[in-house]
Amino acid sequence: MKQLSVNNLLGIEDLSLEDIELIFSFADSFSEVLKRPIKKVPTLRDITVANLFFEPSTRTRISFEIAEKRLSADVLNFSASTSSLTKGESLIDTAKNILSMKVDMLVLRHPFPGAAKFLSRHVSSVIINAGDGSHEHPTQALLDAYSIKKKFGTVKGLNVLIIGDIKHSRVAISNIICLKKLGANVKVCGPSTLIPKFLSEMGVEVSYNLNESLKWCDVANILRIQFERQNINFFPSNREYSMQFGINFDNIKNIGKNLVFMHPGPINRGVEVTSDIIDSDNSIVLDQVENGVSVRMAILYLLASKIKS
Ligand code: CP
Repeated sequence: MKQLSVNNLLGIEDLSLEDIELIFSFADSFSEVLKRPIKKVPTLRDITVANLFFEPSTRTRISFEIAEKRLSADVLNFSASTSSLTKGESLIDTAKNILSMKVDMLVLRHPFPGAAKFLSRHVSSVIINAGDGSHEHPTQALLDAYSIKKKFGTVKGLNVLIIGDIKHSRVAISNIICLKKLGANVKVCGPSTLIPKFLSEMGVEVSYNLNESLKWCDVANILRIQFERQNINFFPSNREYSMQFGINFDNIKNIGKNLVFMHPGPINRGVEVTSDIIDSDNSIVLDQVENGVSVRMAILYLLASKIKS
């Protein structure tokens, strides 16, 4: 069987094109499993996975838990707020204690950029990065690219626009790396205060003109304004942000083509996008969530098979 070139999933940066294609091919198989009346396979019966979430999450945490359970893994969910972290225990000590109970894989969400890589230097288990601060969110990028591939048949050659708060977005960074590896053309659009200078070095076009950018793209991935990571005002008010960079029916009605809209969630409805757009037939937001389970099953399976082999 083909194997991934990595033993952990710390960032998209570490994956080759072959790795991404391998994950997509297993995600296709697991999508078929998820259509069956019995959606469970015994593949990870001997594997125990701990979901360590040091930051709030709805989609990623539940998606990993469902993926693990569909693969018959033993699952334990760790919540930072009810753990001994509140008594000052470190991330490394927390992970080492959990792993000493014969846990095989850790899924880690943490507010510190680089947390997954840092932990991987101190423990020998498999680590999957479920989002580390503003650094990377590799499983989100994989499920986003997989959703685009399912919608269009390919990612190569498509024009993908990422709109909004790029500066604080691990989703944006991971998406850009993943989409470029798959041969998409990527442009970002948002207020200059929310677009870091290093983006042009990533081979990404930067635009501050939403209307022109929307005319250019096939897919518009709308990002959440991450108010919780902003300690200063990056734009005058939500209303002014919406007027200039929010997606609504008025600014797409004259585009002259059908765009596909994506959003990683959670959505600030009425700020970065209006409900008439994100709930429309052109939105694939819930397909992204659905596809996330099969993509995460593929990642868990491929990484677990490296422990077993
Ligand atoms: N997309 C995403 O990471 O959502 P959650 O924060 O709810 O996991």
